[in-house]
Amino acid sequence: MVMDNAYAPYSNFRVGVSILSDDNKVYLGCNVENAAYPQGLCAEAGAIAAMISGGSKTISKILVVADSKNLITPCGGCRQKLSEFSTKDTYIFLADMSGIKKKLKLFELLPGAFDSNFFK
Ligand code: THU
Repeated sequence: MVMDNAYAPYSNFRVGVSILSDDNKVYLGCNVENAAYPQGLCAEAGAIAAMISGGSKTISKILVVADSKNLITPCGGCRQKLSEFSTKDTYIFLADMSGIKKKLKLFELLPGAFDSNFFK
């Protein structure tokens, strides 16, 4: 699993993200921490970068996995990052080590997301 590749020596909290794009490709990401803590990257950021680098444009589904007793949700910044490439039909699945525990629409997690219509 991609979360096994996480570089998380500071938090010891490994996160894996899989994005299914609307052109049916799968892109993976894991968190990559840094000794200069704020320079660390969330798994979502990695998966988004892989998707854009791979030539896909739109997220169909997102899966976030972590070994956590309380179900993980993406941080606020990642919700905003994901919203840039999501539609009203984009679903996010939240999972722990025993499987998917929750399915919701991305915009249920981030009502009122900032978008480019505000400055167009
Ligand atoms: N983290 C993610 O990669 N994704 C999330 O949705 C939440 C948090 C990472 C950042 C940091 O490396 C570690 O989890 C602990 O916060």
